[in-house]
Parts: sequence; structure tokens; C-alpha cells
Amino acid sequence: MNRAPIGVYDSGFGGLTVLRELRRALPDAEFVYLGDAGRAPYGGRDAEVILGLAEQCVERLFSEGCRVVVVACHTVSSVALRHLQARYAGPQRERAVLGVTIPAAELAVEHASTRGGRIALVATARTVASGTFTTECHKLAPVEVIERAAPLLAPLVEEGWEDTDIAHLAVRRYVAGLDASVVVLGCTHFPLLRGAFEAALDCPVLDPAPFVAGRLVDWLARHPEFSVSEGPPRFLSTGDPDAFAAHGSRFLGAPVAGVQHVAETAGRLEPAARVVPRGQVVRA
Ligand code: DGL
Repeated sequence: MNRAPIGVYDSGFGGLTVLRELRRALPDAEFVYLGDAGRAPYGGRDAEVILGLAEQCVERLFSEGCRVVVVACHTVSSVALRHLQARYAGPQRERAVLGVTIPAAELAVEHASTRGGRIALVATARTVASGTFTTECHKLAPVEVIERAAPLLAPLVEEGWEDTDIAHLAVRRYVAGLDASVVVLGCTHFPLLRGAFEAALDCPVLDPAPFVAGRLVDWLARHPEFSVSEGPPRFLSTGDPDAFAAHGSRFLGAPVAGVQHVAETAGRLEPAARVVPRGQVVRA
């Protein structure tokens, strides 16, 4: 089969921290990143709503020519991955949707069993409500897992406030009393708050993204039918493409250029010019 780019999907900017690691692991690979920044945050939304948003985003990435999509978002991976895999894999397994929850659980369990301890996941409210991370850890080992929701943190990072007193205070409040031997950053925005987490905790703080990248490399080696094209990354955003380019580099650690705006039209995400309505909007 033809070579194809790898799709990477997140609710907004956060998945660029995962893309950074994927590019490090696969420097020649072509990636198409879709950030649903215009409809983020996902973390407090109903699972059914997330399923609908995720379908549109994954379909857009398939329309861009991707055959493998990495769901970088922990919230989507926790509630919608099985649904996306069942819906899009195709009869001949010509497409694949991969997530981050199982690699995060594998990484955490590996650390917990060497340190003989208790795992804590800090994540969005929806990720925690799903309990999926704990389920995946328990499939691997009878470890103790605590999940804690930190709903204010992703919006603070989206706002560019990760180095402020407010962000440090919020992290301290969320991890207060957390008795764990390892803490997993269970949201793609949190690597930008790693310093705040490390300052507030006495245990190792793990970002699953490099491990996710290693798992993707292994998976591609086991699935040569999904051969990957080469080329510079492409970026799609449902939010303001200029803002995505301006802020995205903080997450990616590299320039984010040529962002294509995509917008919902009749239940699908299609390329569109960014139009900001002013005043009242009346539907025809
Ligand atoms: N990207 C999401 C995650 O990794 C968090 C941000 C949001 O709430 O949209 O869980």
C-alpha cells in the first residue's frame, strides 16, 4: 500500500507535546496534526459529546490521507478509543487508531513495580470519571492507583499562564495530600507544568509522551503495511489558525507554520476560511 502520513489528534494545543516526541522518534515521518482548539477544552464534557467530536476529527485526518491516527488526548483515549477503533479500522484493517492510555499505564506500572509503590494519575475530570487508566493498570499488575482530576490546569496552559504564580498555586492545591510513589501527567497540557508538579511533589513525575513515541515506533515495525510518508508536518485547527501558530511553538518546541483552519459543516470538519462573526447571528 502507498505510504501515508501519520495523523495526530488532540482537543487543542496539548497534543503538540506528544507530536514533539513522535517527531524525535520518527524524524523523517510526515505528520498531520489536528487540534480541536475551537471546541476545547474537552475535559469537562459528556462522553457522548466527546465521541461525536472525535469522530469528526478522526474522519478529517483520514480525509487528509492518514491511515494511522494517534489519539494524543488522554480524555479522548480514555472514553472514545474503543469506539473509534471499532468504527474506523475497516474490514481489511486498512486503517488504525491508536491511543495513549495503555502506554501511560504500561509506563506507570513499570515504575511502580520497580519502586514498589502507588501510582497517581492527574488528569481531566472526564479522564478520571472514566476510570480507564486504573482499569488498564490493573490488567497489567495488582497495583494501587489513585486518579485525581485537575480541571483548571489545561485552560491555564491554553492561556499561556504555565509559568505564573496562579499555575503553581493550582498545581499545589490539586496534588495536596497525594500519597504516591510516582505521579503520571495524564493530560497533554501538563508537561508545560512539569516544573510546578516537581516543585510540589517529592516523587518522580512522568510524562508518558516519550514512551508513547517508542510504542508507536514498535507498532510501525510490527505493521509494515502502514508505511509512513516523509515530509514536513502539517497543522489543522478548528480555532484561530494565527493563534494556533503563535502559541503552538511553546508546546511543539519548534515553529508551527501554515496552519489550515477547519470548521464544522453538516457534521463534518472541512477546510474553511476563518470568519469571526460580529454582533447577532441569525440562522437562515
Ligand atoms: N488534551 C486533553 C487531555 O490530554 C486535555 C485538555 C482538554 O480538556 O481539552 O486530556
